[in-house]
Amino acid sequence: MTGAPAGADLWLLEEAAIDRLLASSPLDELLAPEERARHARLRHPSVRLRFVGARLLSRHALSAYADVPPSAWRFRLGPFGRPLLDPNPWNLAFNLAHADGLVACVITRGRACGVDVERKPARPEALRLAGRWFSADERGYLEATPPEARSDRFLEYWVLKEAYTKALGVGLTRPFNSFAFSCLPADTIAVSDSGAGEAECARWQFELLRIGTEHVLAIAVRRMPADERRLPLRIVDLVEHRGARGAAAGAL
Ligand SMILES: CC(C)(COP(=O)(O)OP(=O)(O)OC[C@H]1O[C@@H](n2cnc3c(N)ncnc32)[C@H](O)[C@@H]1OP(=O)(O)O)[C@@H](O)C(=O)NCCC(=O)NCCS
Repeated sequence: MTGAPAGADLWLLEEAAIDRLLASSPLDELLAPEERARHARLRHPSVRLRFVGARLLSRHALSAYADVPPSAWRFRLGPFGRPLLDPNPWNLAFNLAHADGLVACVITRGRACGVDVERKPARPEALRLAGRWFSADERGYLEATPPEARSDRFLEYWVLKEAYTKALGVGLTRPFNSFAFSCLPADTIAVSDSGAGEAECARWQFELLRIGTEHVLAIAVRRMPADERRLPLRIVDLVEHRGARGAAAGAL
């Protein structure tokens, strides 16, 4: 794959595949010095694994769009800790998320984008937080959901809310009850955000996906004025992508 995504590309990496990828892409060669230092500070094995998965996925995925080796990408942090490409003459935007078992990375050309992924089911204590984190409308939609579907519905709203605030670059610093999503399920998911206004809200495109049986994932992408009504979404598995590249190289 070369060139920039026409809309949004979602790259996925299962945590179970991380060790296999490391065999062909050793960590010491892949990470920048500040990433190596951060990696060394991480104590919890699952946190270390996700950190490694996120570096592998983002670096290899970005290299699909530019003639830059995975180890050569350099990043800086935005005001609320968001990693951004620096330098970025390719005008690529990306965002990362990890949950138990899965790492995800969304990539666009110059369009603000955010991604969030959660593993099912929602923790019971998280469900109780809906009272504090959701808008009055969202709380109403959740209460009207049959009890057996409520945990999944909670996660759907959660990943949408987090993908949106991550696309804005502010994450959880933005009160989650200060904006609201449409009643789910919906063919076209919309946000209503009094801080942004109607025209601005209409520029956002949201995708809600089930990945396998265990994960719920949402993407938020801000359309540009000249964009089609609906941007295309491509899903790429990093292991398959690297396998296909290897096969293509072998065939030469
Ligand atoms: C961004 C945030 C919502 C992530 O929450 P989470 O559920 O723990 O983690 P997720 O798996 O969804 O996403 C993690 C990734 O989001 C990205 N990220 C970090 N800050 C971000 C931000 N402000 N906006 C968008 N993305 C951000 C990072 O790539 C991170 O992965 P990495 O640390 O491996 O690079 C949360 O950390 C947050 O609100 N941060 C902003 C405020 C803050 O605490 N800043 C501290 C530094 S100034």
